[in-house]
Amino acid sequence: MKTLIIYTSIHHQNTEKVAKVMAEELGADLVPVAQASSRPLAMYDLVGFGSGIYFWKHHKTLLQFVETLPAVTGKKAFIFSTSGEGGIEEHAALKERLATRGFSIIGEFSCKGWDTFGPMKLFGGINKGRPNEEDLAGARAFARGLKRTN
Ligand SMILES: Cc1cc2nc3c(=O)[nH]c(=O)nc-3n(C[C@H](O)[C@H](O)[C@H](O)COP(=O)(O)O)c2cc1C
Repeated sequence: MKTLIIYTSIHHQNTEKVAKVMAEELGADLVPVAQASSRPLAMYDLVGFGSGIYFWKHHKTLLQFVETLPAVTGKKAFIFSTSGEGGIEEHAALKERLATRGFSIIGEFSCKGWDTFGPMKLFGGINKGRPNEEDLAGARAFARGLKRTN
């Protein structure tokens, strides 16, 4: 199963840590969103999209990138994120855009990430050390599960 993972990770490289273990587990090509336009998606059976959560959504560069993609018919995709809250509720905007382009979402993963946004930085932020080993083991297990869907 040829897999591409497209991500951006700007606050503390939290999502990059998750993206790297998933890529390792899946033997995937891992590409920052800024370089993703050169990758023809037709080459891949599965495409992962991930970033930190910024104001209740994935990062705007990832959302904007998805808008530029040509329509596909049921190409398999998965979504991942790290965030202060650490839930998949904030995946809705990306999920909707991917569905509109014709992707079929086969899985979602999220975990907490170190967050020093705004006044929180005065106190060292929240979730220091996250994603931790346990989070990354969860990301690996999620990626293994994706392999079983094929
Ligand atoms: C400007 C800004 C806005 C954020 N908004 C949210 C948010 O709406 N919900 C949330 O749970 N976390 C929020 N966070 C925390 C980030 O999602 C979290 O730190 C994430 O792990 C960053 O990922 P990255 O290091 O891969 O960019 C925000 C952080 C910043 C800097």
